[in-house]
Amino acid sequence: MIHDIFVEELKRQIGLPNNMNKPLIVVNFKTYETASGDSALSLAKEMDKFTDREFRMIAVASAFDLSSISKSVTNVEVWSQHLDPVGKGSHTGWLEPDLALHHGAVGTIINHAEHKVSLEHVEQLMSMLPEGFPICACAADVEEAIALAKLGPTFIAVEPPELIGGDISVTTADPAIVSDTVAAVKSTNPDVRVLCGAGVKNGADVRMAIELGAEGVLLASGVTKAADVNAVLDDLTK
Ligand code: G3P
Repeated sequence: MIHDIFVEELKRQIGLPNNMNKPLIVVNFKTYETASGDSALSLAKEMDKFTDREFRMIAVASAFDLSSISKSVTNVEVWSQHLDPVGKGSHTGWLEPDLALHHGAVGTIINHAEHKVSLEHVEQLMSMLPEGFPICACAADVEEAIALAKLGPTFIAVEPPELIGGDISVTTADPAIVSDTVAAVKSTNPDVRVLCGAGVKNGADVRMAIELGAEGVLLASGVTKAADVNAVLDDLTK
């Protein structure tokens, strides 16, 4: 039942199945004021304007905003920022996966540098998600990426924590961590797709990420703090 809801919602949000293979622009809204509540809705709608380009656009929204955003966008995918491996019942304050699905989440990130969890948490969560529900596990370095790759998430996003929120993209500051993570993940589990993030700001950073073997980027402040969001999204997706 929950699987059917997910499949229908995914079809509605993504449209054509071949969109799944496009490189990804994943924008993490975090708790930025410019990406919360009504502003989250405006930002997601802005992202929607760029879904006809050669990228799969993903808005990673606060749990509070999943429902309103998923009802208002056409082709932007709406993901959760975190989920907990709990079911219905006595779990105060936890983010229960089925409810996130009911509110329109069609994917999630997990183990973000700002919300670390154990490998067991990731593993248990994966066992509870419907088949095909994308999960992007974040890794601080190659070693953590290998440990996560063994669990078989859909994506691993490598993000050196010290570069998060900064002005220098990981692709410039530490290109080797991107290419090394791609090589290590592919030799551990070839099905896992690799993204990179931290400091990504523009189209040149996206291009470099792809040249280094990543299949997309995970970013936040480059979009959430932009004076002209439309111009940034335009540049990112060129
Ligand atoms: O989840 C994305 C993130 O942690 C990178 O943030 O602000 O460096 O793009 P930022």
